[in-house]
Amino acid sequence: MTHRPAAELIALMGSALERAAAQIGDLTRPVLDRVYRRHPEAADAFVRLSSGTITELEGRMVETTLFCLTKWIEEQAMVEIIIHDSLPHHAMTLGIDPVLFQSLAEETADIIIATIPADRGDEREAWVQVRLGLIGAMAKARASPMLARVAR
Ligand code: HEM
Repeated sequence: MTHRPAAELIALMGSALERAAAQIGDLTRPVLDRVYRRHPEAADAFVRLSSGTITELEGRMVETTLFCLTKWIEEQAMVEIIIHDSLPHHAMTLGIDPVLFQSLAEETADIIIATIPADRGDEREAWVQVRLGLIGAMAKARASPMLARVAR
């Protein structure tokens, strides 16, 4: 993988995100459709947990995930803290399987990656790198002793 300065990676991510937004609009529905196709039980979690409307909670979680992906390069430590706090909270307090948590992040990144044209390998590399970073942070959080204590 090519090593690029942070500012360049951020710019590459930004142009891919703009293109995805222009092509798809709000990412919430297509992301959640993909998550529900993979894990039908995830829909029950959103129904059970939303205090307002389901779409509001779905939208907020996709937005939070996008925030984590787009801040990964410049604020990695902050994003790691968010994941290390929120993944166990989602698992232990909200009863959300970490696999579902992680697939929301995978599908959010993948829907953007799917819109990158073949001749923009640089944008693809930037998004794949950040996707790997965020999913890696989730894998670490899943392995934390706190979570292992309550794991089935
Ligand atoms: C299956 C997917 C998910 C469901 C059903 C879900 C559900 C929820 C609910 C019900 C809350 C509010 C309740 C509380 O704070 O105790 C919440 C908060 C939060 N979630 Fe999620 N979540 C999901 C995925 C994610 C993912 C992938 C991330 C991070 C990348 C995330 C990050 C957060 C954060 C940071 C908060 C606290 C701030 C806020 O309420 O906006 N969630 N989530």
